[in-house]
Amino acid sequence: MEGDTYWNISMHFFYIAVGLIIFKLYNSITKGKFDSKRRLDGQVIIVTGASRGMGKFAATDFAKRGAKVILAGVDFKELNEAKDEIIELSGNQNIVAKHLDLASFQSVRNFAKDILKTEHRLDVLVNNAGVNCLLNKKTDDGIHIGLQVNHFGHFLLTNLLIGLLKKSAPSRIIHISSMLHLIGNIDFDDLKGVETKKIDLQYYPDSKLSILVGSNEFSRRLEGTGVTSNSLHPGAVKTDIFMGNQNIIIALFWKMFFGIFCKTVEQGTQTTIYLAVSDDVKYDSGKYYADCKESTWKKTIANNKEVGKKFFERCCDIVGLKPEERLI
Ligand SMILES: NC(=O)c1ccc[n+]([C@@H]2O[C@H](COP(=O)([O-])OP(=O)(O)OC[C@H]3O[C@@H](n4cnc5c(N)ncnc54)[C@H](OP(=O)(O)O)[C@@H]3O)[C@@H](O)[C@H]2O)c1
Repeated sequence: MEGDTYWNISMHFFYIAVGLIIFKLYNSITKGKFDSKRRLDGQVIIVTGASRGMGKFAATDFAKRGAKVILAGVDFKELNEAKDEIIELSGNQNIVAKHLDLASFQSVRNFAKDILKTEHRLDVLVNNAGVNCLLNKKTDDGIHIGLQVNHFGHFLLTNLLIGLLKKSAPSRIIHISSMLHLIGNIDFDDLKGVETKKIDLQYYPDSKLSILVGSNEFSRRLEGTGVTSNSLHPGAVKTDIFMGNQNIIIALFWKMFFGIFCKTVEQGTQTTIYLAVSDDVKYDSGKYYADCKESTWKKTIANNKEVGKKFFERCCDIVGLKPEERLI
């Protein structure tokens, strides 16, 4: 009997070890690399969540290519430190830090108003900022905070900047989704995520599916305008996104896990840079990418036009988009 127990435990460790090795191998093979020296002089790019992680890496890359980069984020001290570092690394002085709290529709409106007042063009909008959604809190706008930061805040921002993007066409919108959208749901009875009690881990996949469905609908509505809308999965990447809002032991476990088994920030950011810079995808829209190529690993609902239309309309109501702000 005791022998059986030891055998069972050993087998469990064996399966976990095999699973981790496969995961590590998968991450080692699936590394798209975007190798291009294409310059972006004269372009204006907004990157949300640019204070650290992949947003900061992408912003640095765009700065090195000569673009004016607007770094948007909540923690203004961290954002300004990122700005100084990016200027030093790129030699590009045309880097601006602006406050944007995606958990507040008023903050998104203030940010968009400022951009519309100060910028004459917008070539690329990178909706990168994200949280792990483990903080189960309602925002002042009455929405689950994770859903608002990841999806609704960006949804409002994108709509408010559509006029400028159209004026600057050809221009691009890049939405950072995740492979985890595959286990996400769109719950039309509770899009705000505050009525039904779900396990905390469910909000992140739900937010990432919302981003993907939203991106595809933006693409349909923007057809013929020269503005493209695409989404992507960066891979499992060593950043701090899964460290926040949890028990210190679990956070340390994730840090170790991500450190050993996941992609570096540079590797994880390749697809974002590819979609923002490459001429190969200049006219591509409504697609989902991973490792610098189109990925078919997406939930079927993502391409459902009826769902996309209904979802978009409901989101416009939730974010309080006024009739005169509805440009698509
Ligand atoms: N890392 C992964 O394995 C992975 C996998 C799939 C998808 N993704 C996605 O990739 C994107 C980048 O993630 P990352 O891993 O680079 O994360 P990260 O290092 O944690 O960076 C997240 C960024 O989002 C910003 N942010 C958080 N709350 C915000 C708010 N309320 N308003 C504005 N900005 C806010 C943070 O800025 P502050 O410090 O100012 O809060 C930070 O700059 C996210 O959308 C994430 O969901 C990541």
